[in-house]
Amino acid sequence: MLLQRVSIPHLSPLVRSLPRLLPRANLPVASLSLSRNMATNQGFKQDAHKLLVIPGPIEVADDVLFANAHPSMSHVSPDFIPVFGDCIRMTREILFSKDAQPFLISGSGTLGWDQVAANLVEPGEKALVLHTGYFGDSFEECLTTYGAEVRQLKADVGGVVPLAELEKALQADKYKVVTFTHVDTSTAVLSDAKSIAETVKRVSPDTLVVLDGVCSVASEEIRMDDWGLDIVLTATQKGLGVPPGLSVLVASQKAVKTFQSRKTRVTSYYASWKKWLPIMNAYEAGKPGYFATPPVNLIYAYHASLTRITKAQPSLEERFALHRAASKRIKDAVTELGLKQVPTDPKYAANGMTAVYYPDGVGAADVVPRFGKRDVVIAGGLHAAIKDKYFRIGHMGITAVDSERGDIDRLIAALKESILEATGKQ
Ligand SMILES: Cc1ncc(COP(=O)(O)O)c(C=O)c1O
Repeated sequence: MLLQRVSIPHLSPLVRSLPRLLPRANLPVASLSLSRNMATNQGFKQDAHKLLVIPGPIEVADDVLFANAHPSMSHVSPDFIPVFGDCIRMTREILFSKDAQPFLISGSGTLGWDQVAANLVEPGEKALVLHTGYFGDSFEECLTTYGAEVRQLKADVGGVVPLAELEKALQADKYKVVTFTHVDTSTAVLSDAKSIAETVKRVSPDTLVVLDGVCSVASEEIRMDDWGLDIVLTATQKGLGVPPGLSVLVASQKAVKTFQSRKTRVTSYYASWKKWLPIMNAYEAGKPGYFATPPVNLIYAYHASLTRITKAQPSLEERFALHRAASKRIKDAVTELGLKQVPTDPKYAANGMTAVYYPDGVGAADVVPRFGKRDVVIAGGLHAAIKDKYFRIGHMGITAVDSERGDIDRLIAALKESILEATGKQ
């Protein structure tokens, strides 16, 4: 890691404003450790690098990376425990939940699927997966691995599952869980979380509603309590703005009770809530607990990012609005170039990413390296049915929120130049 002295004006106003905003933060114990990070991070600036605008991992702020470079700490030390406790509390805030139970466990987003499959669905029970792309298939495979009987409702490529189809399926059969991908990263399709949850609660009130928010948490609005969501699962490397390595899952009290009343053994060791629930409760109560070593440094980084998101400006609501605004700018530029997006209706296009079909006669090899030549890293296609026909751009976190960075301007310029060059118009 390169440590470099830079003057404060090199840092974004958002970063510079954080220490000033901290007294409002109301973080009684861990704030000591946080202000240490904030006070010293002013000397740290990450190396110059290509702009990372794939749909995760995303660009990470200097103060978050610096927090990751915290001196190594015992995972049960009195200094670390309240930092973990704060992370649990701030995770709830991101989802507007008062009493849901966060599980912060070393791993990636995939571990959230394993937690759902191993703790909530007993072998032989039924799960209904709403499929809007690649990640629906993966969740289905995970549930099946643990012995669930899974049915998928598949949307057309670029579309969403009609609510009427969901309602019909729920009337025809009893499901332990309904899962859906809030933003499917392979299609950039945004599902209507509120309406899906409302439909499930109305037609089948006992069924748990599971939202895969790996590509939506902190970039799309999610109101866990108000909408009646039972599980929101995600990971740190996208909207949460932290390096990869932490699985973040939040369970409603109803989901926790469902787990506690299961009749059969939990079907995983590492992912078992029997092991993890006492650990999360201990950290939140300010007490030590151990089942498996948490990613201590990553928890410091997560703490720094959560503090930025929940305690500083812009507010969480403003953050969503900034994602929508950045997304609109990119999508408008795509339209101006005469390109089509994968979501078939703008109503269900994500705000943290954009999926774009190549112009006729042009492919990944013509476009992706042209972005690269301009120091902008985007992603190719992922959905099997259209893999070679489109590319994906991520615009989550500081790229969308901190306009001083100029990421969106750079991205749009690279988009225009790369497409015009690839089509021989420039
Ligand atoms: C919507 C969605 N769900 C789940 C995952 C799996 O997460 P991870 O790669 O962190 O295991 C991803 C990864 O990109 C994703 O986009």
